[in-house]
Amino acid sequence: MRLDRFLSNLPRFSRKDVRFALAGKRIKVDGQTVSDPLHEVREFSRVECDDEVLQLGKPARYFMLNKPTGCVSATIDPQHPTVLDLLNEPDKHDLHIAGRLDFNTTGLMLITNDGVWSRRLTQPQTKIAKTYYVETESVIGPEYVEKFAEGFYFAFEDLTTQPAELTVLGPRSARLSIVEGRYHQVKRMFGHFDNKVLRLHRESMGPLCLDPDLAPGAYRPLNAAEILAI
Ligand code: URA
Repeated sequence: MRLDRFLSNLPRFSRKDVRFALAGKRIKVDGQTVSDPLHEVREFSRVECDDEVLQLGKPARYFMLNKPTGCVSATIDPQHPTVLDLLNEPDKHDLHIAGRLDFNTTGLMLITNDGVWSRRLTQPQTKIAKTYYVETESVIGPEYVEKFAEGFYFAFEDLTTQPAELTVLGPRSARLSIVEGRYHQVKRMFGHFDNKVLRLHRESMGPLCLDPDLAPGAYRPLNAAEILAI
């Protein structure tokens, strides 16, 4: 929300008070004096007037998890363990997953309470590449590379997938980079060739790579550089 709106929503400030407080350089957001009425205030922002705290700002939280097979990318599930069950953190209900993985897919999973940050990662428009290691039942033919680059028509969504980069690593293994995260996207792409995906592991999302020190099921908070990289 804009700073002027945030302030005038507080019972103590009239619109005129807000203008004076901003012009008088009495407002600080996250420790910095701000006089721009359009400055964005989020639930994570600490807002002060003179030295009085108007909003404490809740901590923004970001985690990287190595998702094991056999757990669901959901916050609750009646039948199976969820990725959130693997976190030993308070207020887990506040967290969400940035880019789900299927039940048996493994690898990099990012979990946060910052919706703006997670949308940047997952929206197809931002074209952040997600890289997967893939193993398949049948041989991956040379014709695959061109088809992945050209795109696949998904009738259900009535769209053609954006160009994807397939690097064939062996007869039945490849590395795939895609910029979207459509439902079962990788399996459906290989499904076009009637080739079943047997193993799927997400290695990276944009500049964030799965930490090799994280065993399946383990997690750690992101560091400041990783958070800012998105
Ligand atoms: N594509 C899939 O088919 N499954 C995943 O888990 C991720 C991408």
